[in-house]
Amino acid sequence: MAYKVAVFAGDGIGTEVIAEALEVLKVVEKRFSLAFTCEKALAGGCSIDAHGVALTDSALRVANESDAVLLGAVGGPKWDDPKSTVRPEQAILGLRKELSLFANLRPIQVSRHLINSSTLKPEVLQGVDLIVVRELTGGVYYGKPSERRMGASGREAVDTIFYTEGEVARLMRASFELARKRRKKLTSVDKANIMATSRMWREVSHEVAKEYPDVQYEDVLVDAMAMHLIRRPKDFDVIAAENMFGDILTDEASMLAGSMGLLPSASLGEGKKGLYEPIHGTAPDIAGQNKANPLAAILSTALMLRMSFDQEQAAQAIEKAVDDVLASGYRTGDIAQPECRLVSCTEMGKLVREQLQKQ
Ligand code: IPM
Ligand code: MG
Repeated sequence: MAYKVAVFAGDGIGTEVIAEALEVLKVVEKRFSLAFTCEKALAGGCSIDAHGVALTDSALRVANESDAVLLGAVGGPKWDDPKSTVRPEQAILGLRKELSLFANLRPIQVSRHLINSSTLKPEVLQGVDLIVVRELTGGVYYGKPSERRMGASGREAVDTIFYTEGEVARLMRASFELARKRRKKLTSVDKANIMATSRMWREVSHEVAKEYPDVQYEDVLVDAMAMHLIRRPKDFDVIAAENMFGDILTDEASMLAGSMGLLPSASLGEGKKGLYEPIHGTAPDIAGQNKANPLAAILSTALMLRMSFDQEQAAQAIEKAVDDVLASGYRTGDIAQPECRLVSCTEMGKLVREQLQKQ
């Protein structure tokens, strides 16, 4: 059987890191006797340039007809005009919503080889292994009204955070199920002292928690969570958060691992289909210079193999290959250390493939 993968490389370093990820998939194909048909389509700024919109209907169809979606990153200064009504980010938001990918899993582990690339102390980082489950199709990202307008005293703008109990319950169930397979601890993040949506979030979460008495559950306010994440990250196992809280906390949490260039993510719905993407952006400052770290994109393909295709062995093989390359001291610029061997994006990709073939 051939798995259908829709590939949206996107903009900036998105194209560079996805190129390496696809080469890794080719090696996986041979080693594990799998078959992938990869169909490329445009999303983001490149699509705006070609078609005037961030995501065309036909690109969306490619995603809809696939078994999984692999995405690089979208956006860049070229399309940053705040007055523009077409924005590259609409592609990602459109894909997430149209494919109903409501749970975004962002695992964060600290590699023992990289403990020194973090700005935090090694004793704080040793053994960190947490996963953020970010709600992905609700909240302020989609709430209406969201607009600028003229009011009595001049310019005004409004955004809306909106959640239904059903949206909260399904996210919490996904988080509890995940916690059950891990260390059985779930931290739910909210701002219940201020926001009505958070108070409902907490109420619904407590109801769902009753179905999972075996999982230790706690509520933490988002501002306190920002603090705990860098003070005692080891204490956390699964962290559930609404869309924007999850967006912010995962950028922060990425610094535990040392670089955003290392972190993959999976966006899932009810079925097996998922969208897999690095959590980093398009990095316009280094785009086109072969300096990007392709590991997050490569590790995203491992998540795809595991979660959408049930190919656990292949997933672990990729993860091991990445670990071996890091153990040998090879580093891209974002995680460079004094004694390391600095390599380019394409070199890093090649090293991972060589390890994969050697295993
Ligand atoms: C992310 C990104 C996106 C988000 C942007 C690019 C729309 O920051 O995936 O974390 O805010 O969700
Ligand atoms: Mg983000």
